[in-house]
Amino acid sequence: MARRKLVYEGKAKILYEGPEPGTLVQYFKDDATAFNAEKKDVIDGKGALNNILSEFFMKGLNTLGVPTHFIKRLNMREQLIREVEIVPLEVIVRNYAAGTLAKRLGLEEGTALPRPIVEFCLKDDALGDPLVAEEHILAFNWASQQDLDDMFVLAHRVNDFLSGVMYGVGIRVADFKIEIGRVYDGDFSHLVIADEISPDSCRLWDLKTGEKLDKDVFRRNLGSLTDAYAEVARRLGVLPKIAVPISKPTLIN
Ligand code: C5P
Repeated sequence: MARRKLVYEGKAKILYEGPEPGTLVQYFKDDATAFNAEKKDVIDGKGALNNILSEFFMKGLNTLGVPTHFIKRLNMREQLIREVEIVPLEVIVRNYAAGTLAKRLGLEEGTALPRPIVEFCLKDDALGDPLVAEEHILAFNWASQQDLDDMFVLAHRVNDFLSGVMYGVGIRVADFKIEIGRVYDGDFSHLVIADEISPDSCRLWDLKTGEKLDKDVFRRNLGSLTDAYAEVARRLGVLPKIAVPISKPTLIN
């Protein structure tokens, strides 16, 4: 059997050539990194959990008419996606102060923001993905004014969907990051949600206890990362049966 062609390897995922032109296979690794890869580990089961969680969120968005690159999940670690041209910006949406925003503005973590705030960071590991203003984006032509308008709309639609779905299972979405891809269709192009949406790229807090159910568990050594991600998957009803701890036998009448 011929070996498939590797297209790109990132910190948490690998992209392979897909079965049809214009498609790719996205493989979720078990590697965890934080602080621009200064902290690293391999965490058994993380890739499979992010694969099913990203499938859940992307499918939901597709169903609601918010376009994503997701086509279908292939197996426990891989999904088929549309090949897109990645916009070189990370789009961050924040509902509550945390992370770099809390630090930058001296806000206490957990403070509700007056309204959702959308931020853009330049995707550049060597520079540590610096925060950039719309002025920089337009001046350096990383995206057009139309793209910016479309990215704000996409960011808010994803925020409303994610926040609503997670509220339904008792989880607060403090913030998250999405990546945006450009898809060409003849002379036209449009933007879609790309990459992944998973607890690796969100801050998820239990509504009642404030318990962290996201990558901060790894960043801050707060316990088992897979237990936290599995709890999110369990609440959403997508935890694979194989990963469910064996329960006591039950009597069948
Ligand atoms: O670190 P910061 O507070 O700016 O992160 C905001 C949100 O974006 C967090 O949910 C974090 O997990 C996510 N993020 C990410 N990838 C990055 C930077 C931030 O997923 N490179």
